[in-house]
Amino acid sequence: MDTASIDALIGLARETVGTAVDAAALANAKARFLGRDGELTRRMKDLGKATPEERAALGKRLNEVKQAIESFVVAREAELARALLETRLAQEAIDVTLPGRGSARGGLHPITLTIERVEAIFRSIGFDVADGPEIEEDFYNFTALNTPENHPARSMHDTFYVEGGLLLRTHTSPMQIRYARMHQPPIRVIAPGKTYRVDSDATHSPMFHQVEGLWVEENISLTDLKNVYADFVHRFFERDDIDVRFRPSYFPFTEPSAEIDMRFADGPLAGRWLEVCGAGQVHPSVIRNIGLDPERYTGFAFGSGVERLAMLRYGVGDLRLFYENDLRFLQQFAG
Ligand code: PHE
Repeated sequence: MDTASIDALIGLARETVGTAVDAAALANAKARFLGRDGELTRRMKDLGKATPEERAALGKRLNEVKQAIESFVVAREAELARALLETRLAQEAIDVTLPGRGSARGGLHPITLTIERVEAIFRSIGFDVADGPEIEEDFYNFTALNTPENHPARSMHDTFYVEGGLLLRTHTSPMQIRYARMHQPPIRVIAPGKTYRVDSDATHSPMFHQVEGLWVEENISLTDLKNVYADFVHRFFERDDIDVRFRPSYFPFTEPSAEIDMRFADGPLAGRWLEVCGAGQVHPSVIRNIGLDPERYTGFAFGSGVERLAMLRYGVGDLRLFYENDLRFLQQFAG
């Protein structure tokens, strides 16, 4: 075996190992020279064929070659590792000079805005704001509101019943009972929230919002209701030219009962009476059901449709716009 072919072997190994493109290619290159059938290994096995004189020098030389090839492998390994790291760093690099992506400004839903507006007005005249369950017991939704089982007024509401004898509240009036049982007079509260009825067309949604109002104290009468509600309407619509009237009606939990209508003097709806609220003097049975003496305490209650108030305030013609989540509609309310 001549020196020239050994030198050529080193050259070949340096080239092959040095240009291995990845870990797999490097492993192949290493095996090609140092593996069991590798080029160098084969030569070492041939050492036995050399003459005893040659053997020592050749053996020493082949060992040097082996070490040289091993050092090529180690060096290439390091190079590949560094290259891999550099690629990864380049990929993960964040260019802090790039312009930001920006985030669009959201806004509150018109129904939320309306509820917040109603709350602010009533808070300013000393009302508390309460929240209650949408999945309700029959007792609070009907019975305690003077609407026992088989009472004909139950058919005024197309009720969604759910498991366990519960129902989706058909109005916010159950909050009259829940709140008044937990508080002492004077009781002044509004309770806005979602309500549900089996009803769906252009002017009815199976889910809609109401805001309940209740004031119970000694000597509170329908005159107070009229003053409070008229004041509310003027502040809510931010105009004075609104008439308010009471029209006789019927609810089991108020006596007498009324629908409250309002009428704008100006604008597209001018001159038309618009129904905005059911109301009345709290029925003595309800006063008793909340644990108070009807001889001593009286009060009024009302329930307004929030969508109705929002439609009138914002000039929205179709109730369904509130539930379709069309951004072109909603964006108009983003502040
Ligand atoms: N709960 C009644 C309704 O949903 C409205 C109402 C509330 C009437 C309070 C009287 C008193 O129609």
